[in-house]
Amino acid sequence: MLKQLDTIYADALESLQAVEETTVLDTWYRDNLGKKGQVYLLTRQIGSLSKEERPLFGQQLNQVKQQLQTAYETKLAALKAAELEAKMAADGLDVTLPGRPLPQGGLHIITQTLRDIYRIFGDMGFQIYRSPDVETDAYNFEMLNFPPHHPARDMQDTFYTSQKDVILRTHTSAGQIRAMQEYHPDPVRVILPGMCYRNEQITTRSEIQFTQVEGLAVGHNITFTDLKGTLTEFARRLFGADRNTRFRASYFPFTEPSAEMDVSCFLCDGKGCQVCKQTGWLEILGCGMVHPTVLRNGGYDPQKYYGFAFGTGPERIAMLKYGIDDIRQFWGNDLRFLQQF
Ligand code: DAH
Repeated sequence: MLKQLDTIYADALESLQAVEETTVLDTWYRDNLGKKGQVYLLTRQIGSLSKEERPLFGQQLNQVKQQLQTAYETKLAALKAAELEAKMAADGLDVTLPGRPLPQGGLHIITQTLRDIYRIFGDMGFQIYRSPDVETDAYNFEMLNFPPHHPARDMQDTFYTSQKDVILRTHTSAGQIRAMQEYHPDPVRVILPGMCYRNEQITTRSEIQFTQVEGLAVGHNITFTDLKGTLTEFARRLFGADRNTRFRASYFPFTEPSAEMDVSCFLCDGKGCQVCKQTGWLEILGCGMVHPTVLRNGGYDPQKYYGFAFGTGPERIAMLKYGIDDIRQFWGNDLRFLQQF
């Protein structure tokens, strides 16, 4: 019987070598190591051996079983690897196929517009100054020379908080005072970007929250000419080198004199179109020479210091630049709109 076992073992190994497919390997396993396989059948014959022969035979049998099992597993792994390789070679890899695009984020159109503005004023020596969104009535109105019953203080425009005199800023001008109080008596040249809040009816032209960029320059020899030169240069860098600007007299409590700046319409080149309402001009900002009272509130002696200030709205600039006709689009979070920029 030991001889028989040897033969079974040798035959099994030999036939295993010839196996080239996993399906054939399954059959081999069944024939050799399975419940009705040759090795098992031998096990059943142990009873016919003498007591002395049994231990040796049992030992041999187990060894054969184990070795065949190991040989089987090695073969199985090799066949699987070969089959995978063959499958990959057959399927082929087409490196000319276009890749699958990964979803990619982008900068919000207002972020892009803000960065354009930062870059232009940065080149002219203006630093970015951050001031809080939540302000006090004093910074937002009082120190900016708003008369006590000015309509802009009305409940309709301002978001109040549950704390007395604490409000959401209605304009970035509030930060002017903070910047001056921090820098005086040194000169100041800053822009103040940020979100502003107004309790207004939401329409295609007005939102309850929007961004503004404020500008402030304070020093010994600053004149209205500096204001005009700086802002005209800004308009040309933003809208194109051949744009013209014009300044119209206006009123703001915190500047004197005050003005609004128009830029010649870049769509019709000043001839008149729908966007500029046939005037040839687009209004883009408010500005003026800092009011002496405001300078004083910022810590500067208005006899010795002068300054100019301006405020502009990135939403309006983006609307003009890209022909957007509804301000609600900016914060509506509709990707179909945002992905266009
Ligand atoms: N704060 C003004 C507004 O919200 C804009 C403005 C006008 C800012 C004139 C200024 C300025 O600094 O000088 O409409």
